Amino acid sequence: MSTSSVFPDGFLWGGAVAAHQLEGGWDAGGKGPSVVDVLTAGAHGVPRRVTETVEPGEFYPNHEAVDFYHRFREDIALFAEMGLRCFRTSIAWSRIFPRGDESEPNQEGLAFYDDLFDELLARGIEPVVTLSHFEMPLYLAREYGGFRSRELVDFFERFARVCIERYHSKVRYWMTFNEINNQMNTESPLFLWTNSGVTVAAGEDAQEVMYRAGHHELLASARAVAVGREIDPDLQIGCMISSATIYPYSCDPADMMAYQRANHDRFFFPDVHVRGRYPRYALKEFERQGWDVGIRDGDEAILAAGTVDYIGFSYYMSVVVRATEDTDLDEANVVSGGLKGAVANPYISTTEWGWPIDPVGLRFTLNVLQERYDLPLFIVENGFGAVDEVAPDGAVHDQARIAYLREHIEQMRLAVTEDGVNLIGYTPWGIIDLVSFTTGEMKKRYGMIYVDRDNEGNGTLERRPKDSFAWYKHVISSNGADL
Ligand code: BG6
Repeated sequence: MSTSSVFPDGFLWGGAVAAHQLEGGWDAGGKGPSVVDVLTAGAHGVPRRVTETVEPGEFYPNHEAVDFYHRFREDIALFAEMGLRCFRTSIAWSRIFPRGDESEPNQEGLAFYDDLFDELLARGIEPVVTLSHFEMPLYLAREYGGFRSRELVDFFERFARVCIERYHSKVRYWMTFNEINNQMNTESPLFLWTNSGVTVAAGEDAQEVMYRAGHHELLASARAVAVGREIDPDLQIGCMISSATIYPYSCDPADMMAYQRANHDRFFFPDVHVRGRYPRYALKEFERQGWDVGIRDGDEAILAAGTVDYIGFSYYMSVVVRATEDTDLDEANVVSGGLKGAVANPYISTTEWGWPIDPVGLRFTLNVLQERYDLPLFIVENGFGAVDEVAPDGAVHDQARIAYLREHIEQMRLAVTEDGVNLIGYTPWGIIDLVSFTTGEMKKRYGMIYVDRDNEGNGTLERRPKDSFAWYKHVISSNGADL
């Protein structure tokens, strides 16, 4: 098979990370604390805690993470050896605006990302950038209540303008908010905190609070898109959503209605990002509940002027919904958006962390997104979180990760070649081991490069290619023809 017949020429094979999960240097170069810098370590089934401030005696795994801040040149050399064509990372907002409400940015923070992007470009790797990946400045959360406050729209726009003006000649693909729809799950306080810097007080309706913060983020995103277009019309600015595939439990019409309802929740944010207006099902819900989500005159025009160019999304799993009160809120469900009525799927297995493994679901989701939005699609996260064993000779034989990725890429290929999906790239998550978002663990590893560090922060931080490194290198060089 000719390599060009599999994926389009210029297909963006890459790897993905987020600043707070690998950089470390949490207070280096004038950086302020972020909402993630007060998150303790958790474990499977043990939630991470949010402390009031950075407290002595607590262990915060993101503070040092895997020290990419000081080692990025060494890591980028490995990415280049692997043949990555792009590298998705995020800009730590609190490196650029340490408190978040300053009028002038921190030059040292800006210089760091110049160095990072220059190093990538020098190695032939295109940076792909998320403006906000779960880490607004802590000050904005504590003093303003995060995105509860409409003032955050202006602060985010300023942050976006500074970044896009500074880096637009180096970065073509941007995304505004990572997995903006995660916070739809208000069962767990983690998501509203990391997405929006919001905590919900006793007696408040968490859903109303979430929609209000979400409205402000949708405005902020739309303004960032408009700013980006004004600065450089050649940029591609997308949204980023968590896109676990949803299946109905059965053809019982009640299950089908539960499935439709779950899809409304899943697609609420991208519906606004793409169409530039609120969907009717959401407006009706606000009216029915009597919620004031903060929509003001003029907001419609802002949303309409800032629709996205492409859909960036993560895919890890599928979930099944059923019309029953008998809910099973396991971790997979919590991670995938806290869908009401989620039940286990007997046809597929799960990872050690309970995340369902469903490669075919990726093809299904690619089709759903293509049909619903008809925009270019970019899989900016997909991967297998697992414990890795280091063999006595130092090798890491992560064959299960290779199998997971191979099966997902195979489905991605079918979506492109059989279904005509317009897919522009694929950046598997955690291309280098990093701190798990939901648990704060190191042992839940996704990387193709092993990092010697454990859950307690011990280890040399030495890097070592796993078996998946050579495998993925070959996948890229064959443009996905040889898996
Ligand atoms: C996505 C996030 O939800 O999933 C990443 O965008 C996260 O930040 C990834 O790391 C995997 O989740 P976890 O909890 O296994 O790290």
